Amino acid sequence: MTTNSKPLPPRATPLRPRRRAIIVGASSGIGAALARRLAREGYTLALLARRADLLASLCEEINLAAGEIRALAYPHDVTDYDSAPNLLQRMLADLGGLDLFVYNTGISLPVGLKKYDFEKDRRTTEVNYLGALAWLNLVAAMFQSLKSGQIVALSSVAGERGRVGNPSYNASKAALTCYLEALRNRLSRYGVNVLTAKPGFVDTNLIVGAKGAFWVISAEQAAADICRAIRKRRQQVYTPARWRLVMLIVRNIPSFIFRRLIF
Ligand SMILES: NC(=O)c1ccc[n+]([C@@H]2O[C@H](COP(=O)([O-])OP(=O)(O)OC[C@H]3O[C@@H](n4cnc5c(N)ncnc54)[C@H](OP(=O)(O)O)[C@@H]3O)[C@@H](O)[C@H]2O)c1
Repeated sequence: MTTNSKPLPPRATPLRPRRRAIIVGASSGIGAALARRLAREGYTLALLARRADLLASLCEEINLAAGEIRALAYPHDVTDYDSAPNLLQRMLADLGGLDLFVYNTGISLPVGLKKYDFEKDRRTTEVNYLGALAWLNLVAAMFQSLKSGQIVALSSVAGERGRVGNPSYNASKAALTCYLEALRNRLSRYGVNVLTAKPGFVDTNLIVGAKGAFWVISAEQAAADICRAIRKRRQQVYTPARWRLVMLIVRNIPSFIFRRLIF
């Protein structure tokens, strides 16, 4: 039983190994699609987000489809940094260990092209970057000592250049991408893989109202691309894949041209 007295998933045994994953930010969009897909691939899951009702119904759907307990819900706000260590221990006890950790949580708070809003910037930084540090430092230390495991985090193509539309979102994703590269450089020698996922536009709540979105893919397609990269233990995945070439070009547009672009 969990500390909530909910039934626990079946334990791994030598004859029936089970992979275990934690997804932070699993209540909607790409995170929920990842949860459904990883459950179908046989993972046992701990799912985190603030909206407890959405998490509960997602777990119910997954467990019903699997015919056994395969997903557990842990309501959590990533800006409650101090609660992460105890919550991690609780989930490790409930899952019986950990093979994969996904930091999917992210927000994008629109600001006008001529507006500056520190409160929105602070919130974006706390959720997209500081929350990631609070969780990934803990998990990195654990996987480093275990000499196994895989870390995935959702960055974005938006983290590759500073654009006029939403500076703090760009900056939070750039910081996350750089932090993930550093983690990868630390952890690869311990056999731990770090995957940076960089979606383009994905049809989720995050881009509702966004002007000029193009090549929009479904959350399911993004999750399928990310899961393939997890299986292949890739270091980076663009979804859809064509963004890889586009961003190679975008990264090399000279600043005197790039600053004239309104996007
Ligand atoms: N959609 C796109 O076009 C796109 C493109 C590039 C990158 N991404 C990235 O993909 C990731 C997933 O986003 P999405 O598009 O799937 O949007 P989404 O449907 O809004 O999902 C965001 C997830 O983050 C969780 N979350 C937000 N604030 C939180 C907090 N304070 N504490 C805990 N969880 C929190 C949300 O759950 P609760 O609200 O229940 O807490 C939700 O589960 C994000 O990192 C985003 O930046 C998205």
